This record gives sequence, structure tokens and C-alpha cells, in this order.
Amino acid sequence: MTQITSKEFNEILQIEKASYKYFFNSSQLKKALTEFKLLKIIRKNKVIAYLLYKIEKDKIYVRRIAVSPIFQGRGFATKMMLEIFKIAQKLNLKKIYLYVRISNKKGIKFYQKLNFLKIRKIKKHYPDGEDAYLMEKEI
Ligand SMILES: CC(C)(COP(=O)(O)OP(=O)(O)OC[C@H]1O[C@@H](n2cnc3c(N)ncnc32)[C@H](O)[C@@H]1OP(=O)(O)O)[C@@H](O)C(=O)NCCC(=O)NCCS
Repeated sequence: MTQITSKEFNEILQIEKASYKYFFNSSQLKKALTEFKLLKIIRKNKVIAYLLYKIEKDKIYVRRIAVSPIFQGRGFATKMMLEIFKIAQKLNLKKIYLYVRISNKKGIKFYQKLNFLKIRKIKKHYPDGEDAYLMEKEI
């Protein structure tokens, strides 16, 4: 369970709304915080970027990564991913994986720049029927 203040909770909800077409509502975010660990970046006392992840048996699952729109393109998402790579190395985990909407060109480019590979397409992975790419990176 990830503990955060209600102020941070609301800041994450705001980033969700601004970044995703299908964003987490309050109860979905609450549930996600019970299942996943959180990385966050704070600037001027506000959350501007966050990542939700889970450590599994021999790999790390990245559930969500988002940066407040006005802070995008400045390396914040890369910084959080590098932190995930460090955690994986420290725990001797060999793989990081995630799912991304096939329409999310920006996200796919971001992951490819970090050497994630498209492993396969998962049909109708999302509730609205969109397909996902399963992407993986070997550590
Ligand atoms: C995808 C996302 C997390 C990237 O965050 P960011 O902090 O802007 O990323 P970085 O500044 O670390 O960028 C790293 C690389 O990603 C790619 N990238 C980032 N923004 C991009 C854009 N607008 N268009 C194309 N590629 C982009 C580039 O390859 C970039 O490297 P470069 O700056 O050398 O060109 C951010 O755009 C976001 O929050 N999007 C909405 C939520 C989302 O789609 N999350 C991922 C899918 S779950």
C-alpha cells in the first residue's frame, strides 16, 4: 500500500485527467495505490510526475507513467524509468514489462528510446476495445 497525502492524491488525479483519455477516477486511483508502489517527482511542493509499478517474482510491471503536460519533454519520465532500472538491478530482476495503447505514438516512442521492445499485440486489452502492445526490456 502506497501512503500519500490527500494533496498529493489530488495532484495525481489532475495529472491523470490531463494526460489520459481514459483517466483514473478517484476510486480507481485509490485501488491502484493499494496494488502498486509509487515513484513521484515533486517540484515547488507539487507532484508533477508519477509512476506506478509492481515487483513480481522475477520482473517489474510498470502499470502507469505520466508527467504533467507543462513538464513533458524535459526528461522527467526518463528519470523515473532509470530509477526502475536501478531497482531491478538491485533486486537482480531481469525484465521490465508494460502495456501501451497501440495509438499512443508518444508513449511507444518514449519506451523504444529506453530500449523496450514490442513483444506482441494484445487484442482488445483495454475496456474500450483498443489493442495494446506488450513491451519488455531486458536488464
Ligand atoms: C509518455 C510520457 C510519460 C513521456 O514523458 P516525458 O517526461 O515527456 O518524457 P521525456 O522528456 O523523458 O522524453 C524521453 C523521450 O520520449 C520521447 N518523447 C517524449 N515526448 C514525446 C513527444 N511529444 N513526441 C514524440 N516523442 C516523445 C522522445 O523520444 C524523448 O526523447 P528526446 O527528448 O531525446 O526526443 C508523457 O508524454 C506522458 O505523461 N504522456 C501521457 C501519459 C502516457 O501516455 N503515458 C505512457 C503510456 S501508459
